Amino acid sequence: MRSAPVHLPLTPPAILPVTLAAPDDFTGWRDAARALLAAAIPPDRIDWTVAGTGMADLFAVAQPLPAPVTTMAQPVPRALLHLLRHALLHRAPGRFALAYRTLWRLRERPRLHLDPADPDMIALAALAKSVRRDLHKMHAFVRFRKVGEADGRERFAAWFEPDHHIGRAVAGFFRNRFAGMDWLIVTPQVSIGWDGATLREGPGGTPADVPGGDAVEAEWRAYYASIFNPARVKVAMMKKEMPVRYWRNLPESALIPELIRRAETRVDAMVETVRSEADLFAPAEPGGRRFESLTALYAALAAEDTPPSPGFSSHVVPGEGLPSATILLVGEQPGEQEDKAGRPFVGPAGQVLDACLAEAGIDRASAFLTNAVKRFKFTSQGKRRLHATPNAGDIAHYRWWLAEEIRLVNPTIVVALGATALHALSGRKQALAPVRGDLLPWQDRRLLATVHPSYLLRLPDAQARDIERDRMVRDLRKALAAA
Ligand code: URA
Repeated sequence: MRSAPVHLPLTPPAILPVTLAAPDDFTGWRDAARALLAAAIPPDRIDWTVAGTGMADLFAVAQPLPAPVTTMAQPVPRALLHLLRHALLHRAPGRFALAYRTLWRLRERPRLHLDPADPDMIALAALAKSVRRDLHKMHAFVRFRKVGEADGRERFAAWFEPDHHIGRAVAGFFRNRFAGMDWLIVTPQVSIGWDGATLREGPGGTPADVPGGDAVEAEWRAYYASIFNPARVKVAMMKKEMPVRYWRNLPESALIPELIRRAETRVDAMVETVRSEADLFAPAEPGGRRFESLTALYAALAAEDTPPSPGFSSHVVPGEGLPSATILLVGEQPGEQEDKAGRPFVGPAGQVLDACLAEAGIDRASAFLTNAVKRFKFTSQGKRRLHATPNAGDIAHYRWWLAEEIRLVNPTIVVALGATALHALSGRKQALAPVRGDLLPWQDRRLLATVHPSYLLRLPDAQARDIERDRMVRDLRKALAAA
């Protein structure tokens, strides 16, 4: 989908109409914006319309530009471009004008996009946020129904009504998630389909285009009942997260009243489990030794520790941060770069973590960062050292040191980054998803588990990465609020 090239009148009319091919035509908008900026056409002279929704384009007096414009004279900062990609999927009619005005103003104020108080930036951020929320809802609440079989492959269809123009934007996410089946998602604006090889798009439709009720719904119900987390039951919150208008499309919604009724009993049982697991996390070091300071602890760790299994670096990496931090974050183990620098979270995962912390309003220097396992474990491939996952014995070996660090820092909340950290803190291997983002009572503190930043780096799909990154920032904000 490409828009027709923008033709600019030699003597521009008072208002210049620019017509985009579709409401989500980011490429068309970007190409037009380049040409318009190069020709120094101010924002108040442009009327942005979408083909099929306005008449303005009929009156354009077309003259080709003297030369095609392929890049912006002034590069657009990546962070702003990223924001615009989401903001322009919003259904607000003024979004294209707002985005162009921002680029126009950027010529005079190159750091405009970094000003959180600027009204245009506030408006763009609000549009992008609303679109990201819509993307998240669509990823989470599309429910497929089996509609038949063809050439030995099962076919599924789903109806969904997003708030914004995200129908095409989610296609990659669903292709990656459901690559093995044929599916069709119908929305009011567009339908997208996958046949195992090609993504296709067609016109929008109605709920009547998707036949109702089937065996897959029974599977969804069983699955939902099994992952239902009673500790999370807050009806107002549920309605916010899963707005009631989506409920009618969700086979599992019929289960909700009964699950809520049973929730109280199950919560009691869960709190009991967390408490008894917390007791596990008081392993007395042989000899009952306690350190007076983190400096003394790390000196002893460096001097006394022998690696618990083969494949570890020759030296340990201590934690770092404010010794009296109220938030302590636990990672898995130092990576290659951390091993070289002797500091936690300084490599690629550290950069992702830094950005998420900053977005959540947490100053890295006023938190404390450490790892469940204190040495880099790796396998060699030529000169390269590749990360190797620590095993249960490795995690157990360093648990006492981690416990001692937490006792000395004495944080209000401990954040487990990923499954290894959760394993170390809870004393047993367990899935992260059921407790992710929950504030759990843990010893006399709180524990919140979220994903490891390297998980975000490994996600192949940009959309999924954005969604997961937003979730991680939300989790960290929750930790900050609890601290
Ligand atoms: N991953 C971790 O878990 N810890 C680090 O320090 C770096 C990467």
